[in-house]
Amino acid sequence: MRSKMDREQIRKELALQLEGEIGRGIAFWADEEWNAAARRLLSRQPAPAESAEPRESARVDPKGPPTEAPGAPAPRRTPRRTPRPQFGPPPLATGRDPDWEAQLAALSEEAHQCVKCRLHETRRKVVVSSGSGRVPLVFASEAPGADEDAQGEAFVGRAGQLLTKIIAAIGLDRKDVYICNVLKCRPPGNRNPMADEIESCTPYLQRQLAILKPRLICTLGLFATQVLLESKAPIGKLRGRVFRYQGIPLVPTYHPAALLRNPNLKRNVWEDMLLVRKILDEGLPAPAVPAEEVPARSAKPRIESGNLFGQS
Ligand code: URA
Repeated sequence: MRSKMDREQIRKELALQLEGEIGRGIAFWADEEWNAAARRLLSRQPAPAESAEPRESARVDPKGPPTEAPGAPAPRRTPRRTPRPQFGPPPLATGRDPDWEAQLAALSEEAHQCVKCRLHETRRKVVVSSGSGRVPLVFASEAPGADEDAQGEAFVGRAGQLLTKIIAAIGLDRKDVYICNVLKCRPPGNRNPMADEIESCTPYLQRQLAILKPRLICTLGLFATQVLLESKAPIGKLRGRVFRYQGIPLVPTYHPAALLRNPNLKRNVWEDMLLVRKILDEGLPAPAVPAEEVPARSAKPRIESGNLFGQS
């Protein structure tokens, strides 16, 4: 069991981390339980289970010892807050064929029968997409994981829950956008997609995009970005910039699974999402970057090495 000192230290560190996130306007990606705990920390309230504990008597200070006399009431720290941006209703898709939904349904039917590569032997369910696509924004990622394979819907696992919050943070509902992957079947054990699997499956994504005619594509992680941009550049160099796929603006960002491993990437993703929302609302602000202009990394490209969710 942790000592009271340990708990106090953890509490202080959490409070500091949270203040930093709130200051950068990104704390709302945490879940409700975390937010409630964080609010208590920031207001220096004891947790309900600990209400018998004495109130902290010293100010939380990362640089050193307490700054007030012992026993003095703790001053309330006011974190610098970036106001949470407000968004109006999103634009709805225009310019599609009148039967676009029937076209998507036919594509889905076809994908469900697909036996073009070995992945059909091990899949449980084909995962074509998630969301209606009535808002002309497509999120494209890599391949279904175990949860998606079990449920037959894209991004329903932990990374998917985070993606739902990321989408909500820019005033959208994941039910209204369109979320899909390059591969429609799960590679066993989440291994990397193989070249022939990519070749067999990419035409489904290309057709989805042709039917949906999105105003904007946001690629999640290196894999989908490299496939759509035919680039070998690292995601850190590609993210946050506007490219074009078949004339459609494309903004790459980190995969949500990468954020789960490294919360420091939240800041970048938040900036990318603000760019996504801006382009969705206002169109392209500046000429897109030709993907060939971003130098390839010297190491082997992601598609040929690494693990599926490990290097987004
Ligand atoms: N990761 C992906 O790339 N796609 C999913 O659908 C789920 C997790």
